[in-house]
Amino acid sequence: MEVYKEFVLKYKESDIYLYTIKNDNEISISVLNYGGIITRILTPDKNKKFENIVVGFKDIKDYIKNPSYFGAIIGRTAGRIYKGEFKLNKNTYILSKNYENNQGHGGNIGFDKKVWDLNVVKYKDKISLQLKSKSYHMEEGYPGNLDMVVTYTLDNNNNLSIVYEATSDEDTLVNMTNHTYFNLSGNLKNPITNQILKIDSDYILEIDETGVPTGKQLDVSNTPFDFRKITKIGDRIDSNHNQIKLANGYDHPFVLKDNKTQDIICMKDIDSGRYMKITTNQNYVVIYSMNFTNGELLYNNTKNNTRYGICFETQNPPIGYNQTFLKNSILKKGEKYIQTTNYKFGLTK
Ligand code: BGC
Repeated sequence: MEVYKEFVLKYKESDIYLYTIKNDNEISISVLNYGGIITRILTPDKNKKFENIVVGFKDIKDYIKNPSYFGAIIGRTAGRIYKGEFKLNKNTYILSKNYENNQGHGGNIGFDKKVWDLNVVKYKDKISLQLKSKSYHMEEGYPGNLDMVVTYTLDNNNNLSIVYEATSDEDTLVNMTNHTYFNLSGNLKNPITNQILKIDSDYILEIDETGVPTGKQLDVSNTPFDFRKITKIGDRIDSNHNQIKLANGYDHPFVLKDNKTQDIICMKDIDSGRYMKITTNQNYVVIYSMNFTNGELLYNNTKNNTRYGICFETQNPPIGYNQTFLKNSILKKGEKYIQTTNYKFGLTK
């Protein structure tokens, strides 16, 4: 296994580096100390051609703004908070609002825009990048000083694990995830619509037109949200189902039935032979199928197009109407928040 570091740019007073870990099978992952952004994951196709399976910019400077949150750590809370307000211990907290009337992905300066302290930790068969940062009391409106540690580990069995840990000196909200857009075709050759997906989920959370949960669960049976049998992502992505129309595709929390099983989320690309299996200790995954783009210039010299990437945001549910799901994201003073998600990369036989 090896790890190397390249200087990429100076941002405010900080040096921004790109760290790359490569395992003995030559699979590699590249991460910036800015936003903990995953810029590249190189894996082989069935002809042993290594290509990037995530969406990323051509110009590394573009990650500073990154309006679609390519590859970034999301926090304090992933997804929307209805009207950007919540009540905790009888206090009402008014958050910064960056998704119209709601707050989304932690506000104006979320964890995706922080410069993290990064340490490399080497083991025999794996290497970790340990990123540390702080979020101060009332930052973006949240109470409590929060200490965060996010650890990316690549091992020789082609597992990438991300472990998020946080502690606070006051009761607060925490709901972290990663916003990588995957595309297993390699170097963004094809849209994700031809790639296939299986999710062990019987219910999604209904959302309103602003993307927040209404509090209702919907049974996926006979809907475009039923991925219990392996199905092409594009088969029903333009259906007339009102939940699909509201979001212009998939942008919904799926309730994970049994998050301990190996096959809870599995994506495959038949042409390249690549697959990815995700396991997590979280009970929900928000699936976002790049329904809108900001026309970003990508590393393959194309302009970002809808449906060229898909995010699997393992997390607690976003906070919707009537503070629904607020409880899931409360971190009590002195307790430890731990979220773990593992991505296993492989090739079908
Ligand atoms: C959200 C989308 C949003 C996208 C980019 C996703 O995680 O669910 O609604 O458009 O991020 O901000």
